[in-house]
Amino acid sequence: MSTYPDYPERVTVVEVGLRDGLQNERQVIPMGVKQSLLHRLERTGLKTIELTGFVHPLWVPQLADAEQMLAEHKPVKGIRYPVLVPNLTGMQRALSAGASEIALFTAASEGFNQKNINCSIEESLQRSTPVIELAKANNMRVRGYISCVLGCPIEGKIEVSEVVRVAERLYAMGCDEISLGDTIGVGTALKARQMLEAVAANIPMQQLAVHFHDTNGQALANILACLEAGVQVVDSSVAGLGGCPYAPGATGNIATEDVVYMLQGMGIETGINLDALVAAGRFISGALGRTNASAVGRAWKL
Ligand code: HMG
Ligand code: MG
Repeated sequence: MSTYPDYPERVTVVEVGLRDGLQNERQVIPMGVKQSLLHRLERTGLKTIELTGFVHPLWVPQLADAEQMLAEHKPVKGIRYPVLVPNLTGMQRALSAGASEIALFTAASEGFNQKNINCSIEESLQRSTPVIELAKANNMRVRGYISCVLGCPIEGKIEVSEVVRVAERLYAMGCDEISLGDTIGVGTALKARQMLEAVAANIPMQQLAVHFHDTNGQALANILACLEAGVQVVDSSVAGLGGCPYAPGATGNIATEDVVYMLQGMGIETGINLDALVAAGRFISGALGRTNASAVGRAWKL
């Protein structure tokens, strides 16, 4: 008789399309389109929607409207809205704009961190200390991203021990959740699981999330392997939008529609309405004038 792994009963899907997805677009996306996407996502049952980022507007022009995004947004009760913050300046902007949660970021690769945020890993961790202190003083939840956990566009192979080291630092500094990012989508299932398990040796699994870009079509397999190891938080991007401006060639995150389809098919609760999600993905694909990167988004009959 075959036996199956224990999967979590419930998974929290963190929607990152408005930030990770749109940050990589070359065309200027009107505020009305972003707001319309946001309202559609809010009606899907998603409970965490990353709203925008307070990064330097010259480095990432697509998010230059972060203040406006928050000023014109009426939060829906029960939905959490983290915003990306790279440093103290970004944190002060986020606080003035009325953000309620933040996500900061560093990497397991020196080369990538330099390119992405112009400093070493150690410097980025030190810069994060006052940011976390300020967040805690304002009762804000803090998520910490680690990029390049399964490979780097500059350094190639990344040692799991380095991912573990950076994760443990973020955890010790007070991050409530740590998201492990396969920024360029080079990971495969067993390596993803081994990396997650190594990090989870000293950090509770409930405080870890996985964040797979889907460059090589491995993201769903990687998520499945990580679910088997017990992860309960999965990041994804509606219609598979995006990529990272500092990781050329890397595609968007795994599409939220594809993740939800898989989870629902496995009987894992997400609280998300797939019809509403597919409609949101079709809306943004249409607005951007591009093929929907979600296989489910293309095939689903509404
Ligand atoms: P820098 O140039 O080193 O900053 O940029 P600086 O501290 O030297 O300051 C230079 C000037 O920038 C100063 O102004 C600062 O005030 C200003 P001046 O005195 O010259 O007039 N400044 C800012 N202005 C607005 N907002 C700010 C800010 N900070 C400084 N926050 C910085 C450093 C981090 C700001 C820059 O490198 C940056 O914004 N990088 C953006 C990187 C980015 O957004 N990458 C993509 C997101 S990460 C990602 O996608 C990965 C993830 O999805 C997980 C995964 O997939 O792995 C999370
Ligand atoms: Mg990402």
